[in-house]
Amino acid sequence: MLNKPQEPGTSRATFFELLGGVEKVREVVERFYDIMDSDPRAAGIRAMHAADLTEAREKLFMFLTGWTGGPQLYIERYGHPFLRAKHLPFPVDESARDQWMYCMIKAMHDTGVKEPVLTELAEALYGVADFMRNRQG
Ligand code: HEM
Repeated sequence: MLNKPQEPGTSRATFFELLGGVEKVREVVERFYDIMDSDPRAAGIRAMHAADLTEAREKLFMFLTGWTGGPQLYIERYGHPFLRAKHLPFPVDESARDQWMYCMIKAMHDTGVKEPVLTELAEALYGVADFMRNRQG
């Protein structure tokens, strides 16, 4: 992930900094769930979620803020995420992973995240989304 050891004398901005901070993370997450809630291409993963997306929006915002290198809002509130275990009740296969990535990439486009940040962040998130897979197909 992001916190790799750095060569002495070099520094690298975090995704959180490259995105522009907490407001941008919030904006991307809001757009992500708006897309999931309305785009037929995401109907499969929308159906796995509760009718009310308020809590999912808040939790993904808090998680991604920390995961991108900002304040650890999720961990401060809920402790260790155990993300893969929390996804085990849901059938996450390749299609579900790809629907999740579709919503996230579209959300970043729609909120004006620029290259190369968009592609680099998408690649990093793909690693997490693929790790969530718990079903063949
Ligand atoms: C790969 C496809 C994925 C699917 C189908 C999926 C689906 C879900 C579902 C159904 C929930 C429960 C939401 C609810 O209570 O209504 C959830 C929770 C959550 N997901 Fe995912 N997810 C995926 C990938 C990811 C990824 C890549 C991340 C992080 C980068 C993520 C972060 C979270 C977080 C933080 C929660 C809240 C966990 C908690 O209850 O504390 N998910 N996800």
